[in-house]
Amino acid sequence: MTRRVTVRDVRAMKARGERIGMLTAYDYTSSRLADGAGVPIILVGDSLGMVVLGHDSTVPVTMDQMVHHVQAVSRGARRALIVGDLPFMSYHVDVGRALDNAARLVQEGGAHAVKLEGGEVVAETVRRVVDCGIPVMGHVGLTPQSVNTFGGYRVRGRTREEAAGILRDAEALEGAGAFAVVLELVPDALAAAVTRRLSIPTIGIGAGPRCDGQVQVLHDILGLYQEFVPKHTRRYANLAETISAAFAQYMNDVKDGTFPADVESFHLDEAARGELRDLLEDVDHGPQAG
Ligand code: KIV
Repeated sequence: MTRRVTVRDVRAMKARGERIGMLTAYDYTSSRLADGAGVPIILVGDSLGMVVLGHDSTVPVTMDQMVHHVQAVSRGARRALIVGDLPFMSYHVDVGRALDNAARLVQEGGAHAVKLEGGEVVAETVRRVVDCGIPVMGHVGLTPQSVNTFGGYRVRGRTREEAAGILRDAEALEGAGAFAVVLELVPDALAAAVTRRLSIPTIGIGAGPRCDGQVQVLHDILGLYQEFVPKHTRRYANLAETISAAFAQYMNDVKDGTFPADVESFHLDEAARGELRDLLEDVDHGPQAG
């Protein structure tokens, strides 16, 4: 039987110096594929607001949407640890609401852990969620839910003040019991310093190669967007091109009548044809008969 990856396994990977791979997924099919390829951690990121729902930020994403997608991803993965993102304002108002929402992702969604953004400010919340038995992954550096405060998606931690803040935030998360921390869009040297200082794994995105692990958005590595390729992404496929070509070919085949062909159609045997003869008379003798 396939054994599920646990947060203990993830921490042990850092201890062994084994690099950790994490990938986002938002539905059953992509989750199955990621799981089958051996991705140990699947993140149902609130980036779904942008890459699946078409918003221009993650801010509009709701708890109901997260639960819906976490459920689909959970159904697709037998081995991977599923981490569900707590969306904007679902864990800020008070700790009670944070606990309720974290519980929804686990109980209704089937996630094994939750992720939330922020450092010192959310440390108490992290502690309470962890105390309830729900593992928490932190997220510092560029935290996309604060895009309206930052005024855009830019690298964080290039000034002394920002770098010191990111270090403090990461340490606060570790102190609060987080099992791992995402470092997003921070300079490589700062990510390396955080990684050295923490005993829990750091998972980087745009944070250089010296993190304990890496996370990428599925749509980015599959090349599902032609318009924009983030600097931190490597394209492992060019699916936008492949898919567009397939759609265009399908349309051609439908229009010129070559799809569906005989082998793609269902037929009646002799007995059924006899039984239905009076109903089929017109078509049987028509050009599409057979
Ligand atoms: O929502 C998301 O996909 C994320 C990753 C970019 C880390 O938070």
